[in-house]
Amino acid sequence: MLFIPNSMRLLPILLFLLFLLNACADAALEKSKAHENSINEIIDELSLSECIGQLTLVNSPGNQYDEAFLDEIRKGHIGAILNETNPEIIDVFQQVAINESKHGIPLLVGRDVIHGFKTIFPINLGQAASWNPELIELAAQISAKEANASGVNWTFGPMVDIARDPRWGRIAESFGEDPLLTSILGVSMLKGFQGDSLHSKSYLAACAKHFAAYGAVEGGRDYNTVSVPEFELQNVHFPPFRQLVKHGIASVMTAFNELNGVPASGNHYLLRQSLKENWQFQGFVVSDWASIKEQIQHGTAENEKQAALISLNAGLDMEMASSCYSDYLPLLVKEGKIDEEQIKDAARRVVWVKSKLGLFEKGSSRLSAFTYPVQEHMSVAKDLAIQSMVLLKNEDNTLPLSNRLQKIALIGPMAHDVYEQLGTWIFDGDTSLTITPYSAMKEYLGAHRVNYEKALPTTRSLDQSRFDIAKILAKASDAIVVIVGEESILSGEAHSRAYLGLPGAQEALIRELSRLNLPLVVVVMAGRPLILKNIEAYADAILYAWHPGTMGGPALVDLLFGQASPQGKLTITFPRAEGQIPIYYNHKNTGRPVNEKHHIQLEDIPVRSFQTSLPNTNHYLDIGSLPAYPFGFGLSYTRFEYDKISLRDSLIGMADTVVVMLSVKNVGDRAGVEIVQLYAKDTHASRTRPVMELLDFKRLALEPQEQVYVNFQIPATEFGFYLEDGRRTLEPGSFKLMLGTNSSDVHTTSFTLIP
Ligand code: BGC
Repeated sequence: MLFIPNSMRLLPILLFLLFLLNACADAALEKSKAHENSINEIIDELSLSECIGQLTLVNSPGNQYDEAFLDEIRKGHIGAILNETNPEIIDVFQQVAINESKHGIPLLVGRDVIHGFKTIFPINLGQAASWNPELIELAAQISAKEANASGVNWTFGPMVDIARDPRWGRIAESFGEDPLLTSILGVSMLKGFQGDSLHSKSYLAACAKHFAAYGAVEGGRDYNTVSVPEFELQNVHFPPFRQLVKHGIASVMTAFNELNGVPASGNHYLLRQSLKENWQFQGFVVSDWASIKEQIQHGTAENEKQAALISLNAGLDMEMASSCYSDYLPLLVKEGKIDEEQIKDAARRVVWVKSKLGLFEKGSSRLSAFTYPVQEHMSVAKDLAIQSMVLLKNEDNTLPLSNRLQKIALIGPMAHDVYEQLGTWIFDGDTSLTITPYSAMKEYLGAHRVNYEKALPTTRSLDQSRFDIAKILAKASDAIVVIVGEESILSGEAHSRAYLGLPGAQEALIRELSRLNLPLVVVVMAGRPLILKNIEAYADAILYAWHPGTMGGPALVDLLFGQASPQGKLTITFPRAEGQIPIYYNHKNTGRPVNEKHHIQLEDIPVRSFQTSLPNTNHYLDIGSLPAYPFGFGLSYTRFEYDKISLRDSLIGMADTVVVMLSVKNVGDRAGVEIVQLYAKDTHASRTRPVMELLDFKRLALEPQEQVYVNFQIPATEFGFYLEDGRRTLEPGSFKLMLGTNSSDVHTTSFTLIP
């Protein structure tokens, strides 16, 4: 028999597979060409007013009987609606669009599904503290399914504004201060909404917002002026948007703010140059609510007509809420001020998204309605809430509380409020699904073991009349859990604050309770980092729960009683005082960096000291420069030890990969999760670089005494940065690598990048 080596025998199979692969690729190419052609055909057939209709996003009238509204859909004057979640009403709108309009183009139906639809997950800033991209993707997918079942097919998220100012109420919607983490978590959320790519099986088209630099509003005051140099835009604010575009996001929303003198909604540099030309964004750009018209208030447009002209030229495709486009684009074309081709291009982008999303095939079909509560959704909401909560203090292992304690006093305005624990942007959140800490604790301990008192009617209240009752109940207990914070209305859009302490008489409540000399656990539910300096000394333990969503209660009870160990880590720096803001871990070094050893108490400064007798460094005389809690910080019920940090090579070529290894051991007697963080610093470069930047991280679940070896592999290109004009540069030289449990507790090594 003739001997044929195995590899030879495989050859025909391989060739056949190759042939199949090519055939598939050709078929895909053909399909995509056919797809493009059919979109072009549709666009060619649309009249000017029908094209403008595709660029028109209007609020739903809230019922299906508004004949004037239906007629506008019929005429093709409305391409998208928002704020309608009644499936029957949506069905009627879609039927009219598909069956009664000339071209049968379905509607986009948009809604803010920010951290859940009916089942509410923790606010995004809380979700980020889980550092768990997979779980965030799953939560987004659940939200997308719930929304889709109502007929919604487009959402205004993920929000990926880099936020460094806790005064800004919208920090609650953000993933925090880090560009890399925000990019990673933004992409997770995108995948949860759209799937791996926009196609007929996607539940929702997504929208990256708010482009750009909305998080940098002056003074943290919403809608305020933004001045950010291009170098910082490229390296801090653009990265998440670049990533979302790269991963096929369907739409991008402009920001309300001006950027360096030009409102984002009329900003050619942002929309046409960066987004569409440089990053080759294929989807469409939508304005934020009436932000085209607001150019008049900004003072860059004289009237709505000019506003429409500026925005369309700048590359903004679809107008939300105001009607500058529908009212004035026809006239602007007639006057020859706008080329009709530009309007067709905008409409093509919108129809392209509709077609990619499968709306032409799916029509108004949607997932069938859920019967709530959906157990799987509730359990993901609980997991994410557990993983989002951050343990800030745990004196003498106050937590976890022992099951043997007979009675727990549960006090505070956030302990039993089905609405407030859900947080901002929960238009469709179902409060009947909420499980509060009080309900969960009764379930866990039995009602007779929980002494509950609200003590304050709201978080803002100054009425101390029930403090005595709270104290009597507390005295009759073995430990006190006090749940304070901010009601949801105190964060979110347009809800900026200047004082960041606990509002109302909550600090007084904590002080009073601390006098009872019982273990005192403070749980904070809030939409932003609060300044806790006035209560830190009084609390034995502090657990930061954000606004934890529907399952906040059971998640909290699991952590309080040790059914789970805290694992959340901050993705935002907590200041010690408002005057330190902005304070963020990835700041620059300056020419006179701070030496914290030089920290001086104000009262220690000798009278009539000579001007230069104090260290002339970049710090505050009265509070130094250290934060209350640094980026990446979060305690656990166990401890982890880092050891054997080593580099595979310390001389790295520009095309090589840096490999850094270490061992991590759980040295406590409880299982726990550690989030190992890798940071880098480019020690000398052509531009000043941050003192440290997050490069990668790993979540490790370790049993007591378990030790694992971990390695990070980072391509050298990741050590580069963007220049002002958007080109990326990689500069040889030495780099510091820092590994640790948070950004201020790190082990350091270094390598040299060689040309
Ligand atoms: C917000 C957006 C939101 C839009 C639609 C605006 O006020 O800035 O984030 O998506 O409203 O509700």
